Formats: sequence, C-alpha cells, structure tokens
Amino acid sequence: MANDTTPSPASRRRTFAIISHPDAGKTTLTEKLLLFGGAIQLAGEVKAKQGRRQTSSDWMAIERQRGISVVTSVMTFEYGGCVFNLLDTPGHEDFSEDTYRTLTAVDSAIMVIDGAKGVEDRTRKLVEVCRLRDIPIITFVNKMDRESRDPFDLMDDVEKALAIDTTPMTWPIGQGREFAGTYDLVHNHIRRIDHDDDVIKVNGPEAAVFDELLPNGTDDWRESALLAKEGAKPFDLTSYREGHLTPVYFGSALRNFGVRDLIDALIAYAPAPRAQVADSRTVLADEPRMTGFVFKIQANMDPNHRDRIAFLRVCSGKLSRGMKARLVRTGKPMPLNAPQFFFAQDRQLAEEAYAGDIVGIPNHGTLRIGDTLTDGEDIVFKGVPSFAPEQLRRVKLKDAMKAKKLREALQQMGEEGVVQLFVPNDGSPAIVGVVGALQLDVLKERLAAEYTLPVDFDPCQFSVCRWISSDDERVLDAFIESHGSSMARDLDGAPVYMASSAFSLRYEEERAAGITFSAVKDYQ
Ligand code: G4P
Repeated sequence: MANDTTPSPASRRRTFAIISHPDAGKTTLTEKLLLFGGAIQLAGEVKAKQGRRQTSSDWMAIERQRGISVVTSVMTFEYGGCVFNLLDTPGHEDFSEDTYRTLTAVDSAIMVIDGAKGVEDRTRKLVEVCRLRDIPIITFVNKMDRESRDPFDLMDDVEKALAIDTTPMTWPIGQGREFAGTYDLVHNHIRRIDHDDDVIKVNGPEAAVFDELLPNGTDDWRESALLAKEGAKPFDLTSYREGHLTPVYFGSALRNFGVRDLIDALIAYAPAPRAQVADSRTVLADEPRMTGFVFKIQANMDPNHRDRIAFLRVCSGKLSRGMKARLVRTGKPMPLNAPQFFFAQDRQLAEEAYAGDIVGIPNHGTLRIGDTLTDGEDIVFKGVPSFAPEQLRRVKLKDAMKAKKLREALQQMGEEGVVQLFVPNDGSPAIVGVVGALQLDVLKERLAAEYTLPVDFDPCQFSVCRWISSDDERVLDAFIESHGSSMARDLDGAPVYMASSAFSLRYEEERAAGITFSAVKDYQ
C-alpha cells in the first residue's frame, strides 16, 4: 500500500511514444532506451531493415521488405525507479490512423529531429495530433555526430514550424566529427561522448575543459553556449506539461549519447498517468476502481500464439490477473485470466498492472477498439477516433467458393483496424476503406498469409464517405431510405453515406437538411 513516503504505482509510470519523420532515428533511439532498461541485451533488435535485424513488431514480411514499422507495439521497461511504457508508432503516413489511436494512449511524447534536417513534414502532423490532446513533448535533436544545422537555427525551426516555445536543456559541444559531448545548461555539467555515464562539473562555458574538447577553437562556441544559458527561455514545468514549451536535448542515438539525458528528463519532468475524459466524468489515475480502454487490436502477432490481442490502456485502479472486469459496451463480464505485458522480444503474464500500463488481453473477437473495461461504474472513455477513409475499394476474390471465409476475414481485419469495412445496404459485396494505399498491401498480404485467401482490389464507384447522424431519427431513416444505393453500415452498424466525388458529397451535404456528415467518428 502506498503511504506518504512511497510513491504510488501510478506515479511511477511514464507512458510515452516517440514521434518523428521516417529516418530521423526513432528506431535507433528506441533500441538505446530499451538497453537502458535492460529490456534487450543487444542494440539492433528492434527493427529489421533489409532483414539484418530482428524485432518484436517485425512480424510481417511486408515490414521486412520495406524496412518500415507497420504495426504499433508496446515495450515496457524499468529504470531509475520508474516503469516506462513505450508505445511504438508506425513511421509511414499510410498508417496514420493507427498512430493517432496510439497517441490517445500516451501521456507524453519524445520528438526526434534529424539535426541536419530540422522539422520535417510528418513530425509537423504528429505534433498537431499531440497538440489536440495537449500531450507534452520533449525534443531530441539527433545525429549530432554528423554535420548538423546550427542549434539556434534548429530551435528556431521548431518554434516557427510547430508554434511551441523551446528551452535548450543541453548544448552540443561541437558537431559532426568534432562532436565531443554536451554541456548540461541546467545542472552545469558536461557529458563526453563515449563516457556518457560520467559527468564533469563545470562553472560555466568559460571552463578550461572546453578547450580540450574543442581543439579547433572555442570562441564561437563559448559565445553560443553563453547565449543559450543566459538568453534562452528558462524551462517551465507547467508550460511543458500543458504542451506550450518543449525542452530540447542534443545527442546521437547511434552513438548512444544523450539518451541518458532523455530518460532522466522523462523521470523528472514527464507527467505520470493523466486524468482521462469519459462520457459522464473525468477519471483520475489514482481512483481505486480499475478502468481502461482498448486502443488497438492485433491478431496473430506471433505465429506461435495464434491469438488476438486487445491493447488496453489502464486509466485508473489496479488490474489483477484473474479479476472479472465488465465490458461496458455489452454489459457482460470479462474475466482477465491472461493479461500480458510486452517487452522487446517477449511477453509475460501481467499479475498486476496500474494506471498508465498497457496490457494485452487475448480474446476471440469480444473486444473492439474503443471498448471500455472496468470493475466500477459504467463509463465510456472518449476520443479513440476513426477517420473517414480516403480510398474505397471492393475486394475481388480469386476463388468465389471462399466468399464466406472472406467475409469473416474482412470482419476481423476491420475489427483490428487494419482497414475499415463497409457493408452496402443494397447487398453488393463489402467495400474496404483505407487512409493510405499501403494498408491495402497489408490487407492483401495478411489475407493470403493468414487465411489463404488470394485477393485483388477493384476500384469502386465511390471515393469518399461520411458517417451520418441526425437528432431526428425519422429524418435519418428517410435519408437512408432515399439514398439506398449510396448507403452502407460500418462494423458497429452505424450508417455511412458514400459519394463518387468530393463534389457530389458537398452537393448532398448542402441539400440534406437535419443530417450531420462526419469525417471522424469516436468509437462506440
Ligand atoms: P527511423 O526509425 O526514424 O526511420 O530511423 P532509424 O533509427 O532507422 O535511423 C535511420 C538511419 O539513421 C539509420 O541509418 C541509422 O543508423 C541512422 N542514425 C540514427 N541515429 C543516428 C545518429 O545519431 N547518428 C548517425 N550518424 N546516424 C544515425 P541507415 O543507414 O538508413 O540504416 P542502417 O543500415 O544503419 O540500419
């Protein structure tokens, strides 16, 4: 039991994601963070690039072939008295929906920026999502061991491109081949590359040690370090926690340098599990009753365990193995007999889990994305979104005898969130919707590999769709009735209007009085 001097289990949790543009170094940083926690023995185990490395999330050939991380996975490790839950997000923008859902389950993020490139496109979009949810961000400027842009220039870029204040926490001592370490502006010490576990206290940028570290001259460097120390905005914890300010660290993930600073920053500054908004009230992390929501479903994660895992973010209370929770959507009891924690290469039964933890719950299709589990009152967590797809296709089956099997397989893929599935009201074959084309490749590959269903995709007469609703059920029914061949139902049975073009959608939106067309749907 927690008392005044023992921190509560929830307060020791740090649940975070790493966001970045592809190639900035997210995978490399993930590996190094896991090394700190002893979660993996050797660096280089997180992602296979061209088949050279192996990874837990790298379970699909398509990932290996393309060197991209398609699935979202979670890795738990302990360090410095804290339990870290690192949620991996797919780097490729075709899987953005998966990424957005994952960001609903974290309390903070690390943004990795390539020191030579600054803020790139995808980073900008991900930060927008973080901002919607006020997720605090720590910045890591990576690859300082290569020729990089001026640190002030980089911080300026972050401020302008992302409309967020910056505070340098460390300052790079040289860069490229001369990168010698970092000067910690807050604690007034330095760490040298290749000796990052050892700090040298200094009085300020004037210290003589900098002459040794920068043999080609220190005048410019001293000036910039002084400016960073005295001139930059001081770090403000509240401002960071509210998502208005990002502390900036410099380093090289590849050289395993600066990673220790990051992990210390997560411990010192990153928020413990936040309060979560549900339909009837806000749920605090230290409430006694267990609550949690499912943000991801994944099937066949591991060929040795042919199962389906729902990833549950615990929001409050304590989840114990064997407890009976309730699935609020159906009101039915849900025994949690084999909840699991995930590590880089492994999973393990979770005997107990607390707010902030992510547990995998094996099930046979009972759980869906957005589901709330609890042993307390009926509440439903909000904000796990589904986005209207940008491409719609019909699935063409090569073997017509397998139509029933295809229906079942598509239903599963839909429930997992691999694609969205729409069943047209006119009885024509199901339509799948995706945000990015790569999702179709994944669907095709998985149908072939897991269900022996070779398929192709046919274009479909529709290109956009919207969820529709109305305050007046009769108005809604009348609309559905009169638009029969353009109507479908999604997995939850919600009505969806499909249009051949954005133009015809707009036309319909303007004419349909009393009907709301939505491009985003909260699960439930
Ligand atoms: P991502 O997950 O964000 O896509 O990036 P990833 O970690 O895979 O890194 C992309 C490339 O950048 C990799 O090189 C990686 O070795 C390199 N890299 C990452 N961090 C650093 C760093 O701090 N310094 C330097 N110099 N390079 C870094 P690659 O050649 O594309 O892949 P690989 O063949 O090395 O795996």
